[in-house]
Amino acid sequence: MRKKLVVGNWKMHGNLLENRQLLESVVTNVSNMHEKAQFAVCVPFPYLPSVQAMLQNTSVSWGAQNLSQFDKGAYTGEVSSGMLVDFACDFVIVGHSERRSIYGETNEVVAEKCAAAQRAGITPILCVGETYEQREAGITEKIIKEQLDAIIQSIGIDFFNQAVIAYEPVWAIGTGKTASPQQAQDVHAFIRKIIANQNSVIADVLLILYGGSVKASNAQELFMMPDIDGGLIGGASLVADDFVAICRAASQ
Ligand code: PGA
Repeated sequence: MRKKLVVGNWKMHGNLLENRQLLESVVTNVSNMHEKAQFAVCVPFPYLPSVQAMLQNTSVSWGAQNLSQFDKGAYTGEVSSGMLVDFACDFVIVGHSERRSIYGETNEVVAEKCAAAQRAGITPILCVGETYEQREAGITEKIIKEQLDAIIQSIGIDFFNQAVIAYEPVWAIGTGKTASPQQAQDVHAFIRKIIANQNSVIADVLLILYGGSVKASNAQELFMMPDIDGGLIGGASLVADDFVAICRAASQ
């Protein structure tokens, strides 16, 4: 049995006051749900210390949205895995489509970042997903396979022992368009099959989250699908009631 995981991806949103109000409400409302599901928020770097202070000893974990592939050095503006360890991050999102498309992160760079996170003992949430054009062209599976193969070839299948995958169709992110439960399930099953082809034990326990316009109104039907193990939530993670409702859907 895989325990569901719901992760908020705040992106570049929030401030000290809003974060406090949001987290106070989330912590109170999910405190009785953690037997059935796990919860986390991935926040902008500057807020890690205050989020750590608010969330330690609660049922909500925390993490970051990116990290450097390098451990230290002359990399102005970058943040290393060791720095995330200093703030006790459990998770780090790696290879989000916004990082790939706006900041040019290739499959190879994403693999290096995944390795850096794991070396530091932080669980990477590896994002994969196709664009609208790729889906229309019928190459969704090819794109996902390339994204996964980059990791398998450079790190090895054991990477997925201590990692989470988020399937996020790019056309569904922040657009209000959600993949249908069946569309998402089909890709999740495909992802699990790719991993199972190498190691069925790892595939059985691997958490595969769905992301892309998950809302309180569609979370339950998505989470009911057999290979959807929770969600990576953008916009709806900024509204306490919505995020809590999604957490509740995961803990049914
Ligand atoms: P969204 O974002 O829920 O706002 O679509 C999801 C994500 O980008 O992780």
